[in-house]
Amino acid sequence: MKNSIWLLIFVNLLTFKTSSSFTIECNYRVVDYIDTVRSVYECGVKNVPILSENIVTNITGNHLNNKTNIDVTSIRIEGNSTLSFVPRRFSNFFPHIRAYIINSATFDTLFGDEFDEFSELEFLQFSSSKLASISSRLFEKTPNVIFLSLSWNQILRVGSDLFTPLDVTKIKYFAFYGNRCISKMEQKGNTTAIIEIINEIRVKCPYVNEPVITTTLTIPTITTTNLLTTTEDTTNFPTINTEQETTTSKTTTISQETTTGQNLTCSEKNVKELICEIKDNLKILYEEMQEIKNEILRMSANPCACK
Ligand SMILES: *[C@@H]1O[C@H](CO)[C@@H](O)[C@H](O)[C@H]1NC(C)=O
Ligand SMILES: *[C@@H]1O[C@H](CO)[C@@H](O)[C@H](O)[C@H]1NC(C)=O
Ligand SMILES: *[C@@H]1O[C@H](CO)[C@@H](O)[C@H](O)[C@H]1NC(C)=O
Ligand SMILES: *[C@@H]1O[C@H](CO)[C@@H](O)[C@H](O)[C@H]1NC(C)=O
Ligand SMILES: *[C@@H]1O[C@H](CO)[C@@H](O)[C@H](O)[C@H]1NC(C)=O
Repeated sequence: MKNSIWLLIFVNLLTFKTSSSFTIECNYRVVDYIDTVRSVYECGVKNVPILSENIVTNITGNHLNNKTNIDVTSIRIEGNSTLSFVPRRFSNFFPHIRAYIINSATFDTLFGDEFDEFSELEFLQFSSSKLASISSRLFEKTPNVIFLSLSWNQILRVGSDLFTPLDVTKIKYFAFYGNRCISKMEQKGNTTAIIEIINEIRVKCPYVNEPVITTTLTIPTITTTNLLTTTEDTTNFPTINTEQETTTSKTTTISQETTTGQNLTCSEKNVKELICEIKDNLKILYEEMQEIKNEILRMSANPCACK
């Protein structure tokens, strides 16, 4: 039994390695959204390939005059691209994203870590999609969101603490129009009205048995790269990000251990390393499961598309 689990994890590592990439094609332009998000330099994504891979490994498209990836502050997935997942590790290319717009996604659950990599996010529009469930921790790493539109989904379950990290008094736009458990919006930043909507969501959209994801499992997956030692991954990424991410993952655990002054015996150390490894593997399995779920969704939408 134990062996078969390890075999499964190993097989998963192998398949993960061979299927962990896709290229995004950007149509660059300057756009205006609301007051705080003016003249943003945007990557308009057209034709996201229908794949099970969700990690962005290359970006193509011609930048406008004198602009580079660092200047990109907005990502907009065009209506024609039907997303079956939120692309991961976009931040390796665009580290300063403030606005993210998705208007046609086929999956039904936001597990909460989807936008963690964009700590500067202010503007999130995820509408005209099939969203039904939103985890409590969606904004834990993006507390500066002040424009939120989740209209025209099928929302039924919202984590009870979803809005806790946000500063409600700063929110300018708050839309949950056209959903299953709620159909309200406030477009003028009236705090009283926003609090009323939040309270209504708490009552009408309870998320019973919300899946619990621990923080360790939702750190952006650079540990995967360490584990697999893929050379292609690291060569693409701007060095700043690679450094940032490695220090937040494995090395922190190690430095914590040494600063506590405990003299770990060899076997205790091995156990700790093993636990870290298992966590990494679980993270990979979790992502694989999401991919499988997306694949099933795709197949049920279009049975002939089965690979
Ligand atoms: C990324 O895509 C561009 C354009 O297709 C290509 O020239 C470049 O070699 C690719 N980079 C990698 C690392 O695959
Ligand atoms: C781009 O940079 C060059 C040289 O720094 C400058 O002369 C030019 O005006 C810039 N173009 C734009 C559109 O900012
Ligand atoms: C979306 O698809 C329609 C029909 O296939 C096409 O006419 C339109 O140009 C596409 N829009 C974009 C932005 O690609
Ligand atoms: C703000 O919303 C509250 C509650 O809906 C309402 O009573 C109040 O008139 C609104 N204030 C303004 C300035 O619109
Ligand atoms: C840890 O072990 C080393 C080597 O056995 C020893 O020199 C050192 O004093 C120990 N440190 C502590 C804090 O016990």
